Amino acid sequence: MKRTKIVDIFNPELIGSEVCVKGWVRTRRGNKYVQFVALNDGSTIKNIQIVFDMNNFTDEQLKPITTGASICVEGILVESMGKGQTCEIQAKKLEVYGTADPETYPLQKKGHTLEFLREKAHLRPRTNTFGAILRVRSALAYAIHKFFQEKGFFYLNTPLITASDCEGAGAMFQVTTLPLSDLPKTEDGAVDYAQDFFGKPTALTVSGQLEGELGATALGAIYTFGPTFRAENSNTPRHLSEFWMIEPEMAFYDIADNMDLAEEFVKYCIRYALDHCRDDIEFLAEHFDKDLINRLEFVLHNDFVRLTYTEGVKILEESGKKFEFPVSWGIDLQSEHERYLVEEHFKKPVILTDYPKDIKAFYMKQNEDGKTVRAMDVLFPNIGEIIGGSEREADYDKLLKRIEELNIPMKDMWWYLDTRRFGTVPHSGFGLGFERLVLFVTGMTNIRDVIPFPRTPNNAEF
Ligand code: 4AD
Ligand code: MG
Repeated sequence: MKRTKIVDIFNPELIGSEVCVKGWVRTRRGNKYVQFVALNDGSTIKNIQIVFDMNNFTDEQLKPITTGASICVEGILVESMGKGQTCEIQAKKLEVYGTADPETYPLQKKGHTLEFLREKAHLRPRTNTFGAILRVRSALAYAIHKFFQEKGFFYLNTPLITASDCEGAGAMFQVTTLPLSDLPKTEDGAVDYAQDFFGKPTALTVSGQLEGELGATALGAIYTFGPTFRAENSNTPRHLSEFWMIEPEMAFYDIADNMDLAEEFVKYCIRYALDHCRDDIEFLAEHFDKDLINRLEFVLHNDFVRLTYTEGVKILEESGKKFEFPVSWGIDLQSEHERYLVEEHFKKPVILTDYPKDIKAFYMKQNEDGKTVRAMDVLFPNIGEIIGGSEREADYDKLLKRIEELNIPMKDMWWYLDTRRFGTVPHSGFGLGFERLVLFVTGMTNIRDVIPFPRTPNNAEF
């Protein structure tokens, strides 16, 4: 018999008909006359209740049905008398695919902490919480493609293995096939990368932006959506060593256009999740964060505040608040500063612009003042920085000068500079950290809980 997904079973038209469902047992309870099984197949947060009339089944048959077991049930879908459910299945036929020994199956009925589940990341997708998070994550990924495709942006795939450090932070994972215990050396004792796989030092990319700019200055507007890697030793609830980033890049956009796009984009994604993942978001709100839906609606219904870094620093200095990291013009803002501006001062998302050039990457457009660059960071409640971007320096000479000031090796950058040598145009772009968006939309507080298999310092299990 053809299987119906549980998400499709709550359909009044199916009442009275014979159905087949397959899934994993959440719970079983009952007595010697009747047994109730809550079954979930991952298609929805909802379980379907299966009713076993013990006149038709033996105890022996139901014994393997413990939490975590996988089964196939055929029966009649009927209206339910039970509270909180519209229909249930009166079982006629049962097949057990796989048992789950209650002594050793780690996910028993209730009350596992998120920390415990991180240790069981191979099985946690089977919990209600992670089912909900992963469905929201998937929907958001779809919304992102939909948003850009509908706007006529082209999806560009940029390389994961690269020889250039886009952000210039030096936090890259090296890629090599050289034997680490017996490295070939040049005459002056350095590692002889000529013998390495690519004939030069390479690493995993921290950003697809530089190649994204090549795409944008050809196709007009592109976006990337792929994994990026950062070997920074940041053990925080908002940093991963491997995370997914969305990087749109647009020719003929200045920083104001860039900000408009960023605001429209994140609002679209949040709206999409609210419209398409209501059950999951309500579940997460109920169990983890009562204020979640209000917060999402709040972001949708408010314009993001736009102000310069210099104005932001002034507000922080005049706030009278004691920060762990003291504030003065020129510092890289910490999460506590960003959150103060967003959560306490403006009580709205904030886009900060025109940061000091010394704390931002080499490619940003330089302002007339000689001190700041046309950067923009979008700051969110509970998250801090969710987007980082800028208008790009389109002037060949200014860009070259900055590359030289920062001692960035030209042999890595000649191809990038060619965009400014041939048909250069004003252009802009930004990067959205996908997991930070998923964090915001699900109301979770640790970024390790919004990616199936997190990679963080000292953790590459699963
Ligand atoms: O601000 P970042 O470093 O900007 C760039 O990489 C630019 N090349 C983007 C561009 O203009 N095309 O990173 C962009 C975003 C951050 O705002 C943050 O949301 C996220 O990526 N991010 C991280 N997310 C999780 N773990 C980390 N270690 C992250 N580092 C950055
Ligand atoms: Mg940034």
